[in-house]
Amino acid sequence: MNDSIPLLIDTDPGVDDALALLMAFNSPRHRLLGLCITAGNVGLDHTVANALKLCEVAGVSVPVYAGCDRPLVFAAEDASYVHGRDGFGDIGYAPAHLQPETEHAALAILRESHAHAGQLLLVTLGPLTNLALAVRLDPSLPSRIGRLVVMGGAVTGKGNTSIAAEFNIAFDPEAAAIVFESFPDIEVVDWEAVLRHGFLHSRFEGWLAAGSPRADFYDRISRKTRLWAEGKRGDHWHSADALAMLAALYPEYVIEKKRHFLHVETAGSQSRGATVVDWLERSGRTAQTEIVLKLDQARFEALIQDALGVPV
Ligand code: BDR
Ligand code: CA
Repeated sequence: MNDSIPLLIDTDPGVDDALALLMAFNSPRHRLLGLCITAGNVGLDHTVANALKLCEVAGVSVPVYAGCDRPLVFAAEDASYVHGRDGFGDIGYAPAHLQPETEHAALAILRESHAHAGQLLLVTLGPLTNLALAVRLDPSLPSRIGRLVVMGGAVTGKGNTSIAAEFNIAFDPEAAAIVFESFPDIEVVDWEAVLRHGFLHSRFEGWLAAGSPRADFYDRISRKTRLWAEGKRGDHWHSADALAMLAALYPEYVIEKKRHFLHVETAGSQSRGATVVDWLERSGRTAQTEIVLKLDQARFEALIQDALGVPV
């Protein structure tokens, strides 16, 4: 399909990354060019293996590019306490037969940005390490990106990994700072929006019982995380990366957004990784971030069902 939108995803799969990827696999209006993989939720060896396995389970043939195996400057703690030691719930799946490409993810981003200059939809679902490296290698990169959608941040300081910071930004604040200083136009779906768009565990369990290979696999890899989440956040399940994917694939389902300048803190005992938003326009800095505040919940839930192969 020639008029489809070229889509490149940078991700650290991860249970919620997996749901977002299943949504992207199903999109009729996008052409998925590849998956760029970073360390984040767990180490790079696992995030690459998980991406390959998900492609295999979903029957999708798409290049997978391994990227950075650590943050740009400082080591950071992973999120294996949420996603399992292997990032996919430690179910002991048989490794995929597929192999990653030899090209580094940062180089793949640059190459695809040239091949689809002005058209490329780039979605990041993990730490921004690969993208920051790409922009350092070639500072003209932002001028070739059609849309950049980032899952990350906590726009009024209600973090999920520290008091003020969200995981994707806090894992590699230096990389995030480079990205937010380099790109003139970034759409952000932050953790606080995610908390406003949960859906009931009981409903989700119903979808997982659909019997499709995708739903069965997702049921197994997400079980530990869902139990952990239920204990911590109650009867609603939150899938951060899936919500970001909704905004990326279907911008018409964004109901409310606001444009402001966003700064990433790299210092401070409490503020490292925080995303400071200039809500009152005090800084005089150009607003580079479109902050997504509200999305169509019914469409979100319908697309998740579709991604899991649930008859709707
Ligand atoms: C983000 O952090 C990761 O653990 C999830 O995969 C998601 O990308 C949510 O803060
Ligand atoms: Ca992620």
